[in-house]
Amino acid sequence: ARGNRPTGIDTMDWPALREAVVACTACKLCETRRQTVFGVGNQQSHWMVVGEAPGEQEDIQGEPFVGKSGQLLDNMLKALGLGRKDATPPDPSRQVYIANTLKCRPPGNRNPQPEELAQCEHFLIRQIELVKPRIILAMGRFAVQSLLRSTEPIGRLRGRVHRYQGVPLIVTYHPAYLLRNLEDKARAWDDLCLAAETAS
Ligand code: URA
Repeated sequence: ARGNRPTGIDTMDWPALREAVVACTACKLCETRRQTVFGVGNQQSHWMVVGEAPGEQEDIQGEPFVGKSGQLLDNMLKALGLGRKDATPPDPSRQVYIANTLKCRPPGNRNPQPEELAQCEHFLIRQIELVKPRIILAMGRFAVQSLLRSTEPIGRLRGRVHRYQGVPLIVTYHPAYLLRNLEDKARAWDDLCLAAETAS
């Protein structure tokens, strides 16, 4: 069970949810953020990618995964024919909606703290309810903690299909981790391929 879900969030539509995020002062990150980072991509995407929290570039630009990690993520998605931008004609089966577990940048990119996750993850949960993805890719331990309630290492959770509220969920390494641990890139690629197979 998830405690303290803010009242009203269960019925929020996209504009209301975005407004609630922009106005949020539930934790101290609101004091240091430049802006909130809501999410990006076609809201009907079949794929949903979940990261950790905005970094410096995301805090500046207001979009998830626009820094170095984002380049790696985009390249891996592109190799599967997937992207965050609208295709012409739009094709939700080839599109990803990308969001983070935290909507505000932790100072100096430190790890999210438990109370920040507890306050913020309700926004992500509502985003998932609204997108209704066919596949969720959870990248890194904080996305996994929020969605699977597991603190097992990624290496023990990857390689099989989990479920979040009935939706197939694949666990993989966070791209920022892959940039420092190139030897795990092949495993992450396998994870994306498993996700693609599961989605099709
Ligand atoms: N890392 C994340 O987890 N999310 C971002 O948006 C950027 C970097």
